[in-house]
Order: sequence, then structure tokens, then C-alpha cells
Amino acid sequence: MSRALFDPITLRGVEIRNRIWIPPMCQYSVDAQDGVPTDWHLMHLGSLARGGAGAVIVEATGVVPEGRISPQDLGLWNDTQRDGFRRITDLIHSQGATAGIQLGHAGRKASTWRAWGVRPEGNVPPEHGGWQPVGPSPVAFPGLAIPTELDSAGIRGVVEAFAAAARRAVEAGFDLLELHGAHGYLLHEFLSPLSNHRTDEYGGTLENRARLLLEVTDAVRDEVGEDVPLIMRLSATDWSEGGWTPEETEQVSAWLGEHGVDLISVSSGGNVADAVIPVGPGYQLAFATAVKGRTGLPVAAVGMIDEPFQAEQIVALGQADVVLVGRESLRDPNFPIRAAEALRYRMPYKPAQYERAYR
Ligand SMILES: Cc1cc2nc3c(=O)[nH]c(=O)nc-3n(C[C@H](O)[C@H](O)[C@H](O)COP(=O)(O)O)c2cc1C
Repeated sequence: MSRALFDPITLRGVEIRNRIWIPPMCQYSVDAQDGVPTDWHLMHLGSLARGGAGAVIVEATGVVPEGRISPQDLGLWNDTQRDGFRRITDLIHSQGATAGIQLGHAGRKASTWRAWGVRPEGNVPPEHGGWQPVGPSPVAFPGLAIPTELDSAGIRGVVEAFAAAARRAVEAGFDLLELHGAHGYLLHEFLSPLSNHRTDEYGGTLENRARLLLEVTDAVRDEVGEDVPLIMRLSATDWSEGGWTPEETEQVSAWLGEHGVDLISVSSGGNVADAVIPVGPGYQLAFATAVKGRTGLPVAAVGMIDEPFQAEQIVALGQADVVLVGRESLRDPNFPIRAAEALRYRMPYKPAQYERAYR
């Protein structure tokens, strides 16, 4: 039986075998703190590719050292890191999946403790590999350091770092690139009036707050050329009075389309510590559908999409073009195979070695 969830999708000539993709998920597993991928990343990402996902998108990867969320994050600011990613893209490709990577700068939410194990309060001090974070304005995320305001040279450096990391990602064999414009990290911090109090051309009006996002997009597109699909991840809302809104997300998504972004990945939140978020199955889906309707761009939906029929319905009804399955993929890296079985779809790339498990 044919199923919308398992139809391939093509972005700029890159065909992705189905619509169940793995969203970026930080592993905080670079114990050497040098940004170079480890055996953990290889095994983790390889098993997700083996499980039948269409694209596997590597976790938020810092474009500069101070752009990492934690000292244990991946990085792509040097060629040693680039070369370390090659075995990961090779392994993902060997399992028939498309390799993507999320490039990010954590801004005022950088230099935090990794999200598992011992987690003291506040920022990571220098003796544990921490650093002073930067941001659009000297406005702290609650519980974290006041960031140093980026000046125009600093902003230029961020733009150039995204472009250089994008080039290295392509050299490392990644087929598609995602830019992290969500979750209260640097690009989102510029977008939201709650974190951006600037009075120069990067603050104030929506055009000004979106300027850095569009400059990064243009620089990355210039650097990698026309053949590489670009995804932008946005938080559709801050879920907070006076914050970033779904309407602004739709407008900026339309601009991103004009600037050569191929797909918008629609998440939410992350810029406000005490936001009340109505979490539940598909709780962010309507934002993705609205962006698709407004822009005509393909969109990815994310957030508690955990059930095969739920995922199929989202794609079949055209509510989104792709579903991102995060935590459920950590619980079961073979979720796409399981979904195919549940939907009675004969998955041509189900590993023959596992055939007996599904008889
Ligand atoms: C362990 C973990 C790490 C995450 N790291 C990232 C990340 O690096 N970049 C990002 O944009 N989102 C990150 N997220 C958010 C996920 O990509 C996803 O949007 C979120 O988990 C909601 O989807 P789900 O309900 O399917 O898990 C992370 C989530 C988890 C659970």
C-alpha cells in the first residue's frame, strides 16, 4: 500500500526517501571539549539511519567555540572537526538516509552545563571549559550570565562563521544544512523583542530584528551554492506576552523563502524561562500548517508526533510535508520501520538482517 509518509521528497535535486526525519538532538558527548564527533555520535546517528528515517539531522553544532550550548557540544569551526564528521556522513549514507546537520550559535544561552548528569546552577565556569556568552543585548536568560552585546564587528564575525561552517559541512559530506533560528539561541534572540533591545539596524522593527537571520541565510547560500537544500528552524512563538509571535514567524518565513530557504522547521519556545506551553500530541503542528499556508514553502512539523497513524495523517492531509520524530526515535530508533509495519507499507529498505523480527 502506498502511504504519504513514505513518499520521497526532493529539495533542490536531493531526494530524501521518506517524510520521517530525525530532528537535531544534542548529545553533549564531546568529552574532550574539542567539538570533534566521537564514537557515540557515530553509533547514535548510524542507528537512526538504519532505523529507516529519511534524513538524519545532526544536533546543534557550534559555528564558533563560544556558540556551543555546552563545552561538550559538536563544532565545525575547524578542519579537524570537519574531517571527524566524514565517517558519520558515510555511515548515514551507507544506510540509505540523507545526512543533515544543524548549524547554530547559542548566544546568551551558551556555556551552560550539559543537560544530563551533574547540573550545577548557572553557567559553566572557565575551569570547566566555560566562557562569557554574547547576545544581541545585555539581557540575561534567567539564571544565566548577562551576555556581552555583540558590536557590528562581532555580528559580522557570526555571519562569516555560519558561512565557513556551512562550507565545512558540505565538504564533510552533508547533503542538507539546517540553520538554528529557534529555541532562544542567538538568531532567535535577535528576532524576539524580549531579548533584543538594540537601537541600531539590528533592533526595533521586524525588518531590523530579522536582519541577522537573513544575512546569515544569504552568506550560507553564497558559500554553498545553489545545489544544497537549506532548512531554517524557527520557534513560531515565545508563548509570552510581548514576545515573538506566529504572525512574525509567517512573515519572516516568507522572506526566508525569497532568500533561498527550502523548508521551514517549525518548533516553538526556548527564549522565555517561565513560558506556559500547552504540551500535547502535535502541539506545534498548527504553526507549521500556518507557515505552509502563508508561504507555500514545504514545512516540517515537530513535537510529540509519536504514533504512526498520527504521522501519516499529518502528511496525507497536507498539514506538513515532513514530520520530525525526536524523543520517540531515542526510545525506538527503528520507529520508521515500526510505522511502516503499522501502516502496512512494504518498506524496500527495511534491513534484511531484521526480517525475522517482523514475520
Ligand atoms: C535530547 C534532546 C536534544 C535536543 N537538541 C536539540 C538541538 O540540538 N537542536 C534543536 O533544534 N532542537 C533540539 N531538541 C528539540 C528536538 O529537536 C524536538 O524539537 C523536540 O524534542 C520535540 O520533538 P519530540 O516531541 O518528537 O521529541 C532536542 C530535544 C531532545 C529531547
